[in-house]
Order: sequence, then structure tokens, then C-alpha cells
Amino acid sequence: MSADRSTPHTPPAAAVGGQAPAGGPAPAEGTELIRFDAVTKRFGAHTVLDALDMTVYAGKHVTLIGPSGSGKTTILRLLMTLLRPDEGTITLGGRYLTHEEKGGKLVPASDRYSREVRKNIGMVFQQFNLFPNMKVLRNLTEAPVHVLGMDKDAAEERARELLELVGLTAHLDKYPAQLSGGQQQRVAIVRALAMRPQVLLLDEVTSALDPELVAGVLDLLRDIARSTDITMLCVTHEMNFARDISDCVMMFDAGRVIEFGPPEQIFTDPANERTREFLSAVL
Ligand SMILES: Nc1ncnc2c1ncn2[C@@H]1O[C@H](COP(=O)(O)OP(=O)(O)OP(=O)(O)O)[C@@H](O)[C@H]1O
Ligand SMILES: [Mg+2]
Repeated sequence: MSADRSTPHTPPAAAVGGQAPAGGPAPAEGTELIRFDAVTKRFGAHTVLDALDMTVYAGKHVTLIGPSGSGKTTILRLLMTLLRPDEGTITLGGRYLTHEEKGGKLVPASDRYSREVRKNIGMVFQQFNLFPNMKVLRNLTEAPVHVLGMDKDAAEERARELLELVGLTAHLDKYPAQLSGGQQQRVAIVRALAMRPQVLLLDEVTSALDPELVAGVLDLLRDIARSTDITMLCVTHEMNFARDISDCVMMFDAGRVIEFGPPEQIFTDPANERTREFLSAVL
């Protein structure tokens, strides 16, 4: 696999999980799962991501923090192929996400190719984004059946197991609008798990919830972090949660990673003044 990189590998590179930065020495341990190489994303004249280099190792839990507008959601949307980078490449498990190799050259990926690679990634959004016209059970079986080609009975059995796991068996025959926000979000999380993703992207999944519903959703995510080997990339304002589950915290500002490291370091002794200011405002 060779990327046509006309852009040099610009520091700061963020390697996640405590290993060496991408572009620096080879990682001593861990398997690279997600890799951003000099990814630039612009909206009009506004450069949101600026030649971003980032590596996430398999099985690690990474939290992205940073001020509003720093590009956190943009990173997750690029990984979901809901957006395409203007420059640079993204790979998942060594396969290009947004490009295909054809005749030894990198060309923009077809929608079909991107959909195929993206099957390995699940995302949970702030606003749940359940299918409103489908009952809970069908919300969980729709993609496994139609995207993975799973047998309908097997998909239903798996969906029932997942609903039992999150204590929602009694609600499988309801529509999303008949559930509380916390219940809907737990359905959205197990809907993502039903696809058996390698990577779970979580974008402020508790921000839209009433305060008393937040703990249940965070507990579920803690369970997933503890009991599965799914790689998690998480944007959250819940700093205690981030501290609990993260192997690595990355601080974004103005489309770049300005600092990263284990949570105990970032939260208690950040090196960067901007990180310090941000944390003192949110902690
Ligand atoms: N579709 C779009 N069109 C134009 N500008 C966009 C679009 N999506 C995002 N932006 C801009 O890109 C910048 C980064 O947005 P992004 O949503 O990634 O930030 P964020 O770090 O997730 O912020 P927040 O913490 O508020 O969710 C913002 O300035 C935003 O206005
Ligand atoms: Mg966001």
C-alpha cells in the first residue's frame, strides 16, 4: 500500500495509546487501526482540519476534547465517510477509507467501496438518530440484515440479546418516540453494537439527555469499554467518564491536536497553556 503523499508528514502527530507519534519512530506495541495522514478539511475559506496526523491503535479508548468548533465532530464524520477530506488520506486497518488504489494510483473511493469499509465503524450521535418509523427491534435488525446480509432470525435473536443486556426487552415493540431519551440512546448504542463494529464513534452521546438519565448511558459505555475489544473514539464533556475509560485524551484546538497523553497527565498536569485554560473552564 503506498499513499501518494505530496504533503510532508507534518507534526504535531498524535499517536494514541501511549506509543510513538505517527511519522516518528515505529510504534513499539499495538496494531494501528485508524490513521489520518495530513488530513485537511475546509468548509469554504475556513480550514477546519489542518494537515492532521493521527493514529489510533486497536482496542484503545480515545477521548477527543477541545473547544466548540475545533473539529471534533468533523473527525468522526470523516471516519463515517459522511464527509470527504480535501487533502490527505484516512485508513482503517490498513485499508483506505476514502480512496481506492487503481492501477497503482490513489483515486477517490466510490460510494460502494466506502460503504464496504465503513461497515466496521459504528457511530452514536447526540440526537440518537434512531429510525423513527421503525419499532425498536427493527431498528436493531435493519442494518445487520440489509447491510451485512445477516439472516433475519439470527439478527432478531442478537437484537433481543442486546436489548436484554440494556434492560429494554419490554420496549422492543415500541417506536423510538415512545421511549425516554436515555432509553433511546441505549437503543442507539446497542444498534451500533449489532453491527459488530471494530470501532465505535461516540459524539457527545449524553449531551441531549436530562441529567438523571446520563449515568445509565455512561454506565453502559463503561461496560462496553471494559468487556469488549472495540476501539472507541469518543467526544464528550463528561470529564470523569473520560478519565475512567480513556487510554488517551487528545486536545484539539483550531483543527489540530495540540496535546495528547494518558488522562491522568492531561487532566492533572497539561503541558499546553490552551489545554489548561480549556480544562479550567469545563472541569
Ligand atoms: N457542513 C458544514 N458546513 C460549513 N461549516 C461546517 C460544517 N460542519 C462543520 N462546520 C464548521 O467546522 C468547524 C468545526 O465543526 P465541528 O462540528 O467539527 O466542531 P466540534 O469540535 O465538534 O464543535 P462542538 O464542540 O461545538 O460540537 C465549525 O466552525 C463549524 O461551524
Ligand atoms: Mg461536535
